Amino acid sequence: MNGPAAKILLVLEDGFDAAEIEEALPDGTSVQSARLNGGEHGRLPLGEAAEAELLLVACAAEGEHALELIKATYTRLETRPPIVVLYAGSPNGFMERAFEAGADDLIALPQSREQLAFALEKALVRRRGAISSRAGTMIAVLGPKGGTGKTLTSCNLAEALAGAGASPVVVDLDLQFGDVGLALGLRPEQTIHNLAVAGGSLDVEKIESFLARHPSGASALLAPVRPDQAASVSPSFLRAVFDLLRTRHDFVIVDTPPAFTPEVIAAIDAASHICLVGMLDALSLKDTKIGMETLAQMGYDPAEVTLVLNRADTSVGISMADVERLLGRRPDVLVPSDRAIPTAITEGRTIVAAEPQSAAARAFVSLAQTYLEGGKKPRLQPLQPAPRRRLTLLKKGAA
Ligand SMILES: Nc1ncnc2c1ncn2[C@@H]1O[C@H](COP(=O)(O)OP(=O)(O)OP(=O)(O)O)[C@@H](O)[C@H]1O
Ligand SMILES: [Mg+2]
Repeated sequence: MNGPAAKILLVLEDGFDAAEIEEALPDGTSVQSARLNGGEHGRLPLGEAAEAELLLVACAAEGEHALELIKATYTRLETRPPIVVLYAGSPNGFMERAFEAGADDLIALPQSREQLAFALEKALVRRRGAISSRAGTMIAVLGPKGGTGKTLTSCNLAEALAGAGASPVVVDLDLQFGDVGLALGLRPEQTIHNLAVAGGSLDVEKIESFLARHPSGASALLAPVRPDQAASVSPSFLRAVFDLLRTRHDFVIVDTPPAFTPEVIAAIDAASHICLVGMLDALSLKDTKIGMETLAQMGYDPAEVTLVLNRADTSVGISMADVERLLGRRPDVLVPSDRAIPTAITEGRTIVAAEPQSAAARAFVSLAQTYLEGGKKPRLQPLQPAPRRRLTLLKKGAA
């Protein structure tokens, strides 16, 4: 192993042989081991964990003490080591609880000495990589109303960023009815559901093997093929997926369903940038306004949210001045209606690829350009009280 010797804290439930695990650790690691139960009743080795470069917790069955230690390490230590769980048993239900408690990785036992050594080395290397590498930009594409153009924006943004030489990945978080695969012409051979139920250790190589590859150079983590499979994807699993994808891709674009579901809130929390997609009609603008107010209630400055107005040239009797008055700000990007868009979607192509000279394609390229230049970053602000004012819709001049 390259780099300085790693300091590992190995905490074992009774029944695990410390020597066996220590033997599998990469050369040059310095290991301190402690028992999780029996002998040390109730004492959590948090002081030792704070000093360690990696916390390894070996447990089986319910793993209650292990979960307690993971949770305490995750919540009580200001600087904490990555937490890797070695689990003997069927990890199905336990995996979710371990990630929920704060584990970064789970390695199912038994494994051969070589496999274990490899998995642990990967955990250490990844930790160093995550610390040293810059996390990629993560853009949550939101729109509280259905059909405003979120998927269109996500896919075209990805194609435009890939065209500029970046390495974007689209995560389809519309877990029940996601259509990123259709919009990009990708077959859902592996989906986020398959990744969530795959078991074993979650690392960036594994996630990469579940991505669909688009000819532009973009990738996509596709939505489940059946709505009932959505339940396998939890917010804690998503947080781990987002973190890992950001170590490998310079842009993580998250397409969302038209609702503030727990998964969408997890994406907003993890995102560095927020892109709100509204449409030029009275109902959609009202929902866009509510979306901006909801983000403000969550502590984000709506002025720092990138606002895309789709079908911005539609003649519905709403002027741009009306839009600005209602939303309290100008949209950043205007995307016109274009009949070539549904045709391109039917062919599984983006408008950026199908009609690169069109005004719609150029709007998405300009959106990509803003992100390549850093984009707007909505910093968290002190929480604001909910607005009392009722929304008044545009009456004057409405068709
Ligand atoms: N600018 C446009 N010009 C022409 N058609 C458009 C335009 N924007 C969107 N559409 C059409 O509207 C449909 C809905 O767009 P899209 O799927 O991107 O919306 P969405 O916000 O992702 O919807 P949902 O909330 O259901 O996920 C597209 O299939 C496309 O045919
Ligand atoms: Mg969509």
